[in-house]
Amino acid sequence: MQITASKMNRNMVMTGLVTGAASGLGFEFSNLLAKDSFDLILVDIDEEKLIAAKQRIRARYQVRVDTIICDLRQPRCAELIHEQIKGRNIDVLINNAGFGLYGFFSETAWKLEESMIYMHILTMTHLTKLLLKDMIKVKSGKILNVSSVAAFQPGPLMAVYYATKAYILSLSEALANEVKGTGVTVTVLCPGQTKTNFQKITAKNSKEKQSRASFLSPADPAKVALCGYHDMLSGYSRSVPGLINKFFVLVSRITPNRFSVPLIRKIQAQIRK
Ligand SMILES: NC(=O)c1ccc[n+]([C@@H]2O[C@H](COP(=O)([O-])OP(=O)(O)OC[C@H]3O[C@@H](n4cnc5c(N)ncnc54)[C@H](OP(=O)(O)O)[C@@H]3O)[C@@H](O)[C@H]2O)c1
Repeated sequence: MQITASKMNRNMVMTGLVTGAASGLGFEFSNLLAKDSFDLILVDIDEEKLIAAKQRIRARYQVRVDTIICDLRQPRCAELIHEQIKGRNIDVLINNAGFGLYGFFSETAWKLEESMIYMHILTMTHLTKLLLKDMIKVKSGKILNVSSVAAFQPGPLMAVYYATKAYILSLSEALANEVKGTGVTVTVLCPGQTKTNFQKITAKNSKEKQSRASFLSPADPAKVALCGYHDMLSGYSRSVPGLINKFFVLVSRITPNRFSVPLIRKIQAQIRK
């Protein structure tokens, strides 16, 4: 069965707001929304990349595309975004922007960890709160928060990243329950390794000379985004793309941390050796 945005209220033009929209999963989500005739508000840090993404989408789809250049690590940026979109009804919010950092917590750069906590936790939570209130008022809307399979257990050598993703998972599933019956749904997407710039940026943040290949081949971002997008439109609370990731989540759930945590450390050390 093909699930499309026709499941939503189509009386008026629909609008989707995507963070981290200029590349990777965010760009794929933006294309999926545009294909379903959503107008777009693309949020990202880099003006040039954002304009290029806008042009690529406009070349394929006849939708309105607005851009907001914003560093999501900055205080008050959720409020600033909310002010900029005042008067517009947001039907879909996709909190996607994120980055990784590898290394022993005692050695990694606090500035990067502070930024990560700001972007993955504070900004994401505040933007969700502001737009969720608006959505509940009009009794319609969908929120998709991008977490990771990393959310399901502690992650030595990427400790802060795993912890922030666990926060996103926990918050999203709690909200998915709270909004039942309001016309709004909240979905959390938990991808495994995906072929985007994420590994390269993680390597750069971690001062590695080059990013390492995982022992598993990374997933196609278009397929990962499509899975999350469909599950969001269907109103599911959790979306885990791919059989291997589903298996990994199941094993994480039933394995005591005293076994899984040393294993995660081995895997992380192997990938980055
Ligand atoms: N790829 C994976 O293996 C994987 C696995 C599990 C979960 N995820 C999650 O998926 C989400 C999307 O990541 P991705 O894989 O698509 O990585 P990506 O290709 O690096 O995309 C991330 C986007 O967010 C933007 N961004 C970074 N810092 C920002 C900031 N401070 N303010 C505004 N925008 C910012 C980036 O802009 P610049 O390019 O200019 O920095 C980029 O456009 C993240 O939350 C990540 O944790 C990824």
